[in-house]
Amino acid sequence: MSNLALLGGAKAVTLPLKSSVVIDDDERRLVNEVLDRGEISRFMGSPTPDIEEVLVLPSVEAEDYSPQYFTFLGGRMIRRFEADAARYFGVKYMVSANSATSCLSMALAAAGVGPGDEVITTCMSFNATAMSILMFNSIPVFVDVSAKNFCLDPVEVEKAITPRTKAILVVHLLGFPADMNAIMAIAERHSLVVIEDCAQAPGTKIDGRYVGTIGHAGIFSLQETKNFQTGEGGLLATNNPAIARKARLIRNHGESVPDDTWSNEDLVNVVGFNFRMTEMTAAFGVGQMAKLSENNRVRAENTRYLTKALAGFPGLLPVPFAAEWVPHIMPMLYNAEKTGVSRALVLRALREEGVPVGSGYVRLMSENPLFTRRVAYGRRGCPWTCAGEGYTPPTFPCPIAKNLLRNQFIWLYHINRPNGAAEMEQIAEAFRKVFSGLTELTNCPESETALGYKW
Ligand SMILES: Cc1ncc(COP(=O)(O)O)c(C=O)c1O
Repeated sequence: MSNLALLGGAKAVTLPLKSSVVIDDDERRLVNEVLDRGEISRFMGSPTPDIEEVLVLPSVEAEDYSPQYFTFLGGRMIRRFEADAARYFGVKYMVSANSATSCLSMALAAAGVGPGDEVITTCMSFNATAMSILMFNSIPVFVDVSAKNFCLDPVEVEKAITPRTKAILVVHLLGFPADMNAIMAIAERHSLVVIEDCAQAPGTKIDGRYVGTIGHAGIFSLQETKNFQTGEGGLLATNNPAIARKARLIRNHGESVPDDTWSNEDLVNVVGFNFRMTEMTAAFGVGQMAKLSENNRVRAENTRYLTKALAGFPGLLPVPFAAEWVPHIMPMLYNAEKTGVSRALVLRALREEGVPVGSGYVRLMSENPLFTRRVAYGRRGCPWTCAGEGYTPPTFPCPIAKNLLRNQFIWLYHINRPNGAAEMEQIAEAFRKVFSGLTELTNCPESETALGYKW
């Protein structure tokens, strides 16, 4: 009988791999603090003096807001979490919200990106990146990635600029940083806003600066699979006071709280939602914030271990991370021509061994039918049809991203804490088994249907 689990052998990975968050007494204590206090959300709209008395307001530290905005900015755990995160990433303002998607929309709208404006973004990311552009009726323009870092290719960005272009939405995919020096230079030349989607890259740096703090605003996701997590949640980082203020208005119903320093125009020209985070989530976030460095250290260490262990396998290239980059998922590039075995079958064999692998996103983000058919809002198909008669958005091919997703990518998950060297060694052993059993796989009849998704 074959040694391969796919063909009846024993699994290489026997340790239980953990995919979820490390929760300990810190988070329990912090969440209990909120429960004991009974303040489960302190957010209000415009406060009145009698409400302030009832609520016994916490003090606001390091805020340039006058006392009448206390309840507009959330309770003490929200402030603490935002202050901790701002200190960690080294930015002036951090605005929490119920998700990173909300933060992306807030960032774009707060930076003045509106209906009919084109936003250049990558064709390869999670759907939320592009959806956030539609939220305020702006139009996503998708361009290809660089084969070097899987992020927006600056050359393609520059080609896509039109008089309608207002912003560039950069995604630092899998923990790899986009070429921010080139992108910021393009933005400066064309007076464009740059928003960084760092959902998958909290902790990655470029020349000592965290991604998310280089553009006009950056966002981080706290959703359950991320490097630090609160179940659901997001953070918006910025050094720009106007973006921070407007984002806080959008987060909290857009209620025009009186403010002597803002013109009516600024206060009313915004549609607000309820994107607020609860005190319990923020308390959990305070605990998680303190763990981010350790979480990231383990991700980097596990990835380094595997990069070394899997070097030299035929048709497999673990993509190396530089010291300043924090892996979110570990990508490898597969070459079926070198092995004679389809990627789908190799993935299937690895999964049977107990290795959590996938082939990346099932399609380009730009191939979502909503974008190919251009029907987002209502029967008229806004924002495209609302952009004016005869308007056709610029479209670009994405051959590099397409090839990565269709043929090359192998994504390895569960490089996170508490998994460590023992778990990584079992994963390495599974790869050794599969890559030394390629000849057996060549004859396996299931190769075409192994993953179920047909390109
Ligand atoms: C690149 C990217 N952007 C945005 C998001 C959205 O984050 P959230 O689920 O917190 O809204 C995700 C989440 O998976 C993501 O991977």
